[in-house]
Amino acid sequence: MNATAAPDRASAAGAGRRIDLRSDTVTQPTEAMREAMRTALVGDDGLDGDPTVRELEIMGAKAMGKEDALFVASGTMGNLIAALVHASRGGEALVDEHAHVARSEGGGISRLAGLMCTPVRSCDGMMDLDALAASMRDGYSRHGAPTAMVVVETSHNHAGGRALPLSYLEAVGQCARAAGAAVHLDGARIFNAAVAQGVPPAALAAFSDTVTFCLSKGLSAPMGSILAGSRDFVVRARSYRRMVGGGLRQAGCVAAAGVVALRDMVDRLAEDHRRAHALWASLRGQAPALVGDAPDTNIVMVRAPSDAVACAARLASRGILVRPRDADTLRIVTHRHIDDAAIRTAAAGIAHAVETGR
Ligand SMILES: Cc1ncc(COP(=O)(O)O)c(C=O)c1O
Repeated sequence: MNATAAPDRASAAGAGRRIDLRSDTVTQPTEAMREAMRTALVGDDGLDGDPTVRELEIMGAKAMGKEDALFVASGTMGNLIAALVHASRGGEALVDEHAHVARSEGGGISRLAGLMCTPVRSCDGMMDLDALAASMRDGYSRHGAPTAMVVVETSHNHAGGRALPLSYLEAVGQCARAAGAAVHLDGARIFNAAVAQGVPPAALAAFSDTVTFCLSKGLSAPMGSILAGSRDFVVRARSYRRMVGGGLRQAGCVAAAGVVALRDMVDRLAEDHRRAHALWASLRGQAPALVGDAPDTNIVMVRAPSDAVACAARLASRGILVRPRDADTLRIVTHRHIDDAAIRTAAAGIAHAVETGR
């Protein structure tokens, strides 16, 4: 089956009538995924294991270059469990001020894992390395406990899908290691970054102790993420997964789609990147002030200075769905159900809506 073929049953969900650029999470499972889910060998993953979940975990660990991995319900759950394990040192998590874990995960690393979450000044998804070094605590003092965890994110959602340089990831790793802190990589879209940079994802994860990636975004699986790290880390993570209610039973029914995602869906992400670039180039051609630098991956940020929320509503009334990132920026995400014709229609509609206010 051709993984890049037309959007199979997506039209049944309305994708045929609308151009849905809100997120790559709207992707429908492929026909190959549906068939794999129907026929998956399953067990009881909360008891003595599920063979399809295990197959997926082994594939995930290998892709990340880690000893072992755990299937979890979502990226948020993966990041939270990583924090719970790394929190045993107490203290603090250092995260970039625009990180998904800091802004969009309900404050779980503080509220549930008990880590003080300290934002570090960042630009374009990258923490200021001097500010990071100055924030590290390598032991107890009267001011607090040692830094337990540093979180990095690539591709970087808030920074418009930036694929962060390996040299930056390495520098963060060195800085954390010097203070004895763990590094967790929120790699929800690590495959987008890897494809864009032409490196294996393991090369991006090499500087972190642990990594989460999502199967449910551009890779098109209906749900699920992988949390990878050392064997010992995964033993502890499995226990915390149970604690947060993530101990699933015949989970192979959905893990089967994840196996197909890793096997068939990675290389085609380059198409999403090409279309994001085409959208960006068209917008820049029509009105250069609307966009900044070219996108690295599948996310395009568009300036809508008058009112991004109202602009998104106007576009929605014309069947073009986008999300306001904040008051003056729209976030646009390409994925498997967006073809070249959709890009042309969206580019014309977005430029018109932002420029004319109509
Ligand atoms: C960078 C990043 N991390 C984590 C997540 C959370 O993933 P999930 O929605 O599966 O909880 C997302 C979701 O968009 C994300 O973009």
